[in-house]
Amino acid sequence: MEKKRSSFTGKIGFVLAAAGSAVGLGNIWRFPYLAAQYGGGIFLLVYLILAVTFGFALMCAEIAIGRKTGQSAINAYGQLNKKFSFIGWLGALVPVIILPYYSVIGGWVTKYLTVYIKGEVAAAAGDAYFGGFVSNVGPSIGYFLIFLGATALVVLLGVEKGIEKVSKIMMPILVVLTIFIAVYSMTLPGAMEGVKYYLIPNFDGFTVGKLGKTLLAAMGQLFYSMSLAMGIMITYGSYMKKDVSIEKSVRQIELFDTGIAFLAGLMVVPAVFAFSGGEADVGKGPSLMFVSLPKVFEFMGPVAGRIVGLLFFLLVLFAALTSSISLMETVVSIVRDKLGWGRKVACLVVFAGCIALGLPSALGFGVLSHIKPLGLDDILTFFDFISNSVIMPIVALLTCIFIGYVFKPKALIEEIEIGGQFKAKTLFTVVIKYIAPVFITLILVSSVLDAFGIMKI
Ligand code: PFF
Repeated sequence: MEKKRSSFTGKIGFVLAAAGSAVGLGNIWRFPYLAAQYGGGIFLLVYLILAVTFGFALMCAEIAIGRKTGQSAINAYGQLNKKFSFIGWLGALVPVIILPYYSVIGGWVTKYLTVYIKGEVAAAAGDAYFGGFVSNVGPSIGYFLIFLGATALVVLLGVEKGIEKVSKIMMPILVVLTIFIAVYSMTLPGAMEGVKYYLIPNFDGFTVGKLGKTLLAAMGQLFYSMSLAMGIMITYGSYMKKDVSIEKSVRQIELFDTGIAFLAGLMVVPAVFAFSGGEADVGKGPSLMFVSLPKVFEFMGPVAGRIVGLLFFLLVLFAALTSSISLMETVVSIVRDKLGWGRKVACLVVFAGCIALGLPSALGFGVLSHIKPLGLDDILTFFDFISNSVIMPIVALLTCIFIGYVFKPKALIEEIEIGGQFKAKTLFTVVIKYIAPVFITLILVSSVLDAFGIMKI
């Protein structure tokens, strides 16, 4: 029997809910370290170009699929064409991989919140602090479980509306605080080098191989950050009213999401240059924010540093929670739909599964640090790579081929035009039909060959 779908109240409800899912650790934790790792300005430029072309077209497509069918991802593809429901399944795999390791990072944020509550401003700024924490079995598992448990509890009790309300107040504060820290960070002695590194593309010594890797990293980041290629936006679209403009909503979500990521980079990258080894340190990876920001907070002095640090990690925790809740909701609803389980049982099973899948990532910086799957730095980076750089591009590619050649862009353009004129429809069609498929195939194949050591790019 068809359940009646609830819908978002008006335009702003949709934009805020989608932005709540989009803005999270991807923007604040992941974007800055990738930008730092992949050449600063070049990464930023590539990301922005991809966001207004690929990101825009794909998000319009996913929301339109959802609104047209009124179904969540797996059923939506099936309804449009039975043979293609596997795209929905493949997309559904992404949140299953992301949620466990997302909760590990959420645990790190929780840990740093407690650090600033206790006022350990100077200790947290020490060079060995982060490494000491993540390599210690008890705390690294403990904080992971706290974050995952909190997420599961909210989903179990069905109180995410409450959390979302709080986060709607917290998010604007997060933006203001991020701007404040970014400006402070840029004015630190030695930070200007970092600002230049982040803003000005430097093509010296830039090879085709590096470009390929940068493109793949930027594309994976784009999908991750905008919650694309994993079925989430299809589900959100299914709740959207027909008279709301998909095009305008997508522009707004994109502006918000990219704006926060940009600011986060401006906050973290100059700090690396001011306090650490500059270019030598920018390749640090997942730990970057947790190593560089505490140094900024320490520089503010013990009292101001404690207040700003506490506020910052509290706000980031809320941003992370709204995202992890939407990830878990997605997984729970798939389990319920397909297995017919009740909410409680489904929640508990997903929770247990996430613990099992997340433990290796949590331990990958300590007792399991010798395990380097595919030669990547650690287990967490491996899961991150598989979801963002392998499965998501494949899902995006299949979606483009399906829309471009089987279902045809025209049918989606009609859906989008119900809510008003679709100004960028030519861009939409060209990206979906030609640019995206060719481009994604090229970088996907080269990067997989590279990862398996078959071809060095
Ligand atoms: N977009 C989120 C972020 O940038 O942190 C990550 C995410 C959240 C992906 C929720 C998917 C999702 F359903």
